Amino acid sequence: MTRGIFVTATDTEVGKTVVTAGLALVLREQGLRVGVMKPVQSGHLADDPEGDGGRLKRWTGVEAGPEEIVPYSFSLPVAPLIAARSAGVAIDQAGLVERIRTMAERYDLLLVEGAGGLLVPVGPDWTMADLAVELEWPLVIVARPNLGTVNHTVLTLEAARSRGLHPLGVILNGYREGERDPSLEANPEMIERFGGAPVLGRIPWMEEPMTTEKLRDVFIRALDGRALMERLRLTVRVEG
Ligand SMILES: Nc1ncnc2c1ncn2[C@@H]1O[C@H](COP(=O)(O)OP(=O)(O)OP(=O)(O)O)[C@@H](O)[C@H]1O
Ligand SMILES: [Mg+2]
Repeated sequence: MTRGIFVTATDTEVGKTVVTAGLALVLREQGLRVGVMKPVQSGHLADDPEGDGGRLKRWTGVEAGPEEIVPYSFSLPVAPLIAARSAGVAIDQAGLVERIRTMAERYDLLLVEGAGGLLVPVGPDWTMADLAVELEWPLVIVARPNLGTVNHTVLTLEAARSRGLHPLGVILNGYREGERDPSLEANPEMIERFGGAPVLGRIPWMEEPMTTEKLRDVFIRALDGRALMERLRLTVRVEG
């Protein structure tokens, strides 16, 4: 049985790529062979080092090639359906699921980064959520730490569950030093109480340049790798 995690977020630019890379490094530390994939990328072509696939490859050091990591890419920085349409391309859902499954066979665990949030349109009648549904993989939801995040995160959790998806938990990304937002402290508890999913970690805002070493240090400190493995064993039957 092939397995993986689908990494989604409450919005675009929340930190899915950074968190996907950080998660890969934490899980690798636990002895897993971890792969990464960004099935549909807009704003950068697959071989652009500044695109999500390029950053995932650089930060995690996976051997897979750009087109393997990113099967569909478009230069227009808009939702996949709109970008694909303007490029005259139809994204083949079944074919994409097949490519993801084939990639997953090369690893103990494959982390798949969605595009934007869960309900972003990818085809004329399907969204990012449908990829996760087809894969039957659990979700990690990346969310902002500050004001507004409880609503966005609980909405995402509800939309996920209503489609039969299983959220493993939420990662709050981008705590800035000195930020004076009175909601910051209570937000994790509110998300757990109203969303019914655990907050797996709180990731600080990191200074540039982002490097593998920095990501590894920060994420190992912020996430409990063993607890994560335990959760994965229960839901995706990861060995090791
Ligand atoms: N914890 C962090 N510390 C410092 N920079 C961060 C952090 N998280 C995200 N960033 C930066 O914020 C920007 C958005 O993050 P990222 O690219 O991971 O978002 P995303 O959710 O993957 O966006 P998209 O929807 O385009 O895939 C990037 O420039 C990234 O380097
Ligand atoms: Mg991204």
